[in-house]
Amino acid sequence: MNTMELKEVIKKRRTVRDFQNKEVSQEIIEYAIENGFKAPTYNHLREWDFIIINSLESKLKLIESEKLDKAINIDELENMFKNEEIIMKEMYLDAIPKQKKMIISAPSVIIVVFKPKVRVEKAKKIYDLNCLASIWTCIENLLLSLAENDVYGVTFIPQNIDTIKVKLGIPVELEIAAIIPIGYKAEDARMLKQKTINIKEKIHSEKW
Ligand SMILES: Cc1cc2nc3c(=O)[nH]c(=O)nc-3n(C[C@H](O)[C@H](O)[C@H](O)COP(=O)(O)O)c2cc1C
Repeated sequence: MNTMELKEVIKKRRTVRDFQNKEVSQEIIEYAIENGFKAPTYNHLREWDFIIINSLESKLKLIESEKLDKAINIDELENMFKNEEIIMKEMYLDAIPKQKKMIISAPSVIIVVFKPKVRVEKAKKIYDLNCLASIWTCIENLLLSLAENDVYGVTFIPQNIDTIKVKLGIPVELEIAAIIPIGYKAEDARMLKQKTINIKEKIHSEKW
């Protein structure tokens, strides 16, 4: 198991959608989930579960549920993002055509399940979404711990959560936060440039 400096791992963690055909060991996945459970959580209960999918059969259930088998028209996509910032357009033009392939080609897919405080459709305040905020702190720990072991992922947020829940037998009272295809980076994996941020402009003193 690798042990890297925190700042190196933070820099190393990037979204990857192109994977090698190489299995990720259960040990690496368990290490990442164990570190995920160290993340802060609003009610101190860490009501999180993880389904590890390795079989093509289960991956196909995700693709069918999300209706990811439709052909993508690149010209339509170009047009859709023509007025957006270049950095965002580049990301979507790379990402959208890969949504199906990244699930199929990833050796493992982690389904991140959490217990909601209130039903999503009933949430009225940020406070009601503390459960979702908490699981995302866990997800970042998980992604960092995978990156530490040269394993990368992409957080995919499903639209048809209820269908996936039925297909995977997830209890009705729970929610899916993300589906994370993970694996080793393909040699030609596209790593998109991150937006340059001037930290000084983002930190406000005493008031906005
Ligand atoms: C909440 C959230 C939802 C995302 N949804 C998707 C998604 O549905 N499909 C996808 O390919 N990437 C998705 N991503 C990945 C982002 O596109 C990616 O993190 C972003 O391009 C930045 O890349 P980086 O992580 O390498 O900095 C999502 C990321 C987050 C945090």
